[in-house]
Amino acid sequence: MHLELPSDPRGHEGPARACCYDELAARQAQKLEAVGRLAAGIAHEINTPIQFVGDNTHFLLDAFAGLQRLLGAYAALREAAAAGAVDAALVETIGRAEEELDLPYLREEIPRALAQTLEGVERVATIVRALKEFAHPIRKEHAPADLNHALQSTLTVARNELKYVADVQTDFEPLPPVVCQVGDLNQVFLNLLINAAHAIADKVGDSGARGTITVRTRHCPPRVEIAISDTGSGIPAAIRDRIFDPFFTTKEVGRGTGQGLALARAIVVEQHGGELTFDTVEGAGTTFYVRLPVAGVAEPTVGRS
Ligand SMILES: Nc1ncnc2c1ncn2[C@@H]1O[C@H](COP(=O)(O)OP(=O)(O)O)[C@@H](O)[C@H]1O
Ligand SMILES: [Mg+2]
Repeated sequence: MHLELPSDPRGHEGPARACCYDELAARQAQKLEAVGRLAAGIAHEINTPIQFVGDNTHFLLDAFAGLQRLLGAYAALREAAAAGAVDAALVETIGRAEEELDLPYLREEIPRALAQTLEGVERVATIVRALKEFAHPIRKEHAPADLNHALQSTLTVARNELKYVADVQTDFEPLPPVVCQVGDLNQVFLNLLINAAHAIADKVGDSGARGTITVRTRHCPPRVEIAISDTGSGIPAAIRDRIFDPFFTTKEVGRGTGQGLALARAIVVEQHGGELTFDTVEGAGTTFYVRLPVAGVAEPTVGRS
């Protein structure tokens, strides 16, 4: 089946070749939900470095005002020296000014404050870059993409969602560029990461314990494999064959909609000719595997019959 849409909700011209309307709408809704969910966390992630950039800048302002006074005194000393009239009182004034300022401290702290400020700015820039990459507009054409980089961006964007329950470990093997719609795959990775964090939260409860999320990539020609593992609750045998069903969820309203895996499967399998599978051990954890052909898929099959 091939649907011609009156207008493409993705904001691109022409018919939406790869998806039927319902799925497109669901995907859009899921993306908005994810962005909404992540917004508060990202604001928090940006706020921390911005705060210490602010604190350091205040410190530098104060320090520079003190140094200005000292430089003024040095200028007076230079003038006095040029006139051949340096007296002991002037030298003593300068010595006192240096002491009051705690010059050795400033000489140590100013470069440190500058370095930290740069670090903070770099951290914010990294988050903003990751966000831009994550929010990559859904493009119709599949294009070669660096999936290790895409995973790293998605981890940056999701950091605040994961960091309270899990330590994240990455084990990235060099990958060839994979022909794909990287924006959609970022959405898949995000869904899998958030499910992993939820599964760990379910397992550890209020105990204060933490779990581990491991993201591994492998090149297994002609495909690449992305494995996202958690040390969470595992998936009970009774629901294993239902987790990919649209709207199937075991989570309360607000935490889950049951759309994540259904869309992930549509994106990976139908849109990219790949595979989405999992291994799970109840009480021990789960690994989801995304396998994608490096060369991409000639014609996406979503919405076709
Ligand atoms: N990593 C995981 N560990 C344990 N259970 C999982 C995991 N991922 C998914 N599930 C189960 O599959 C269900 C469906 O997942 P999903 O489609 O992402 O919807 P949602 O997360 O909104 O519930 C979840 O409610 C959960 O029961
Ligand atoms: Mg989910």
